[in-house]
Amino acid sequence: MSNAEKVAFGLEGVIALETELSLVEGATANLYYRGYHIDDLVEHATYEEVVYLLFNGDLPSEAELAEFKRTLAREQQVPEPVIALLRSLPKGAAPMAMLRTAVSALAHYDPEAEDNSLEANFRKAIRLTAQAPVLVAAIGRIIQGKEPIPPKDGLSIAANFIYMLNGEEGSEVAVKTLDTALILHAEHGLNASTFAGRVTVSTLSDIYSAATSAVGTLKGPLHGGANEAVMKMLLEIGTPDRAESYVREKLARKERIMGIGHRVYKNGDPRVKHLKRLSQELNREKGTYHWVEISERIEKIMQEEKGLLPNVDFYSASAYYALGIPPELYTPIFAASRMSGWTANFLEQYRENRLIRPRAAYVGPRDRKIQK
Ligand code: COA
Repeated sequence: MSNAEKVAFGLEGVIALETELSLVEGATANLYYRGYHIDDLVEHATYEEVVYLLFNGDLPSEAELAEFKRTLAREQQVPEPVIALLRSLPKGAAPMAMLRTAVSALAHYDPEAEDNSLEANFRKAIRLTAQAPVLVAAIGRIIQGKEPIPPKDGLSIAANFIYMLNGEEGSEVAVKTLDTALILHAEHGLNASTFAGRVTVSTLSDIYSAATSAVGTLKGPLHGGANEAVMKMLLEIGTPDRAESYVREKLARKERIMGIGHRVYKNGDPRVKHLKRLSQELNREKGTYHWVEISERIEKIMQEEKGLLPNVDFYSASAYYALGIPPELYTPIFAASRMSGWTANFLEQYRENRLIRPRAAYVGPRDRKIQK
């Protein structure tokens, strides 16, 4: 007998826990972090302030922000053996797989790794959030056959990332774009990677194991992996006149168009307008507006044909490309930002833990006997 009718496949619509971190309003296409709308945060806050907000519940005063930035700067030093480990991985390793290995390895160099007190976990959450962008920049250098560059004092997380990746500081608009992208990717309800990490925490495992679970989960093309796939698609299409036939052929083969559709936002993703605007500005400035035109054509056809709208990954692809960031780094950058949201969720889970352990409906054969 099948129990399929009782099963919430993909856990769609299931409310598994309570959170104070973010409110994802699917029907009205709104997203709030601790009660602040993302539009407000994008306009009036920096990524560092958003991280402080996620960890502490309120936006920082000037003095609190200055102190928090000093803490982030102190904690961002990645242990040299972890950089050496990244260098030693086989050539051609996937950057998200490299990040997963590095996040796991960090635990071995943190004397507090096995201290599961709330205080130690708070410090480790900040440490992971500060170190994740440094790891991603190092991975970016290593895959290009270059030496990693350590972070520079006095730069914001966004500015430092560009500096560590390129060896020179970015323009004001480049830093602003990345800062906005970091804000928009920081937190998003009980998405698959946050859920995976919270499940790990719920067994009272350590925070590095939870972060490793989350990175591995974000890696998949149905989750964070979509932004890289979007850019590959844009490069494959090449020119705006080829967009329509490309999409129609894919749909005829029942294939998915990456960066389109969302489990929760059926009426649009509130993060898209910001990334679209930044992508338009950057590509116009760079003389590469065709990437935006191709994206806009895909968006239009998908809406007409399937009633599906772009998600956060769609325009971040062409925005990052205009910043000169290699596509293999798009998902790791997502992870670097989401590390703040993940770890804020892990702290919440440690504080109010109950083992997360659903059940499966058994649909296999029954009452079998061994015949001898
Ligand atoms: N391209 C083509 N068709 C798509 C589609 C896409 N990107 N996304 C959804 N659909 C179609 C499905 O084929 C399905 O059609 P059907 O009912 O005719 O079979 C319908 O829309 C519902 O899709 P389903 O997979 O059940 O929805 P979901 O809520 O599970 O999917 C995603 C959400 C994000 C997994 C899905 O939209 C997707 O695969 N998008 C592309 C990957 C992506 O961008 N991921 C990043 C998410 S932030």
